[in-house]
Amino acid sequence: MKVLIVLLLGLTFVLADHDHSGHHHENYVVKTHDDLVTYRAFCADKVHAGEELVEKYKRWQFPDDAVTHCYLECVFQKFGFYDTEHGFDVHKIHVQLAGAGAEVNHSDETHQKIAHCAESHSKDADSCSKAYHAGMCFLNSNLQLVQHSVKV
Ligand SMILES: *[C@@H]1O[C@H](CO)[C@@H](O)[C@H](O)[C@H]1NC(C)=O
Repeated sequence: MKVLIVLLLGLTFVLADHDHSGHHHENYVVKTHDDLVTYRAFCADKVHAGEELVEKYKRWQFPDDAVTHCYLECVFQKFGFYDTEHGFDVHKIHVQLAGAGAEVNHSDETHQKIAHCAESHSKDADSCSKAYHAGMCFLNSNLQLVQHSVKV
């Protein structure tokens, strides 16, 4: 089930590319699948992830190991979702999930779920671990939104 959800989230990132109308929220530009491919290559190289791990990442499978923790930290940083100083940017994550041109209500339940995940792991010992655990929580908490996005 987890794998399915993260796979669907991957599709959301792809589908986010279908509208080039250029709706920007707080200067956040919704990232495309091409962006993700670029980030994946950059981050896999940065954390020295082996072929086997990279194949897993392509299927949106993220094992709970130190390399993967830092891989996800890197990817979230590339997306602009996360930095070591401020942690996660809940608004940007929400806008990315909704996709380009979509209206986002920052008072809604999805927003609160994302905020909860970001907050609940903010005390993790190191930045990679924080990014990984919050990211996994976030990926697994937005099934409804993802299903909606895939139907679009
Ligand atoms: C945003 O969501 C909140 C909580 O569900 C709701 O009360 C509010 O009316 C919504 N705002 C808009 C503009 O839809």
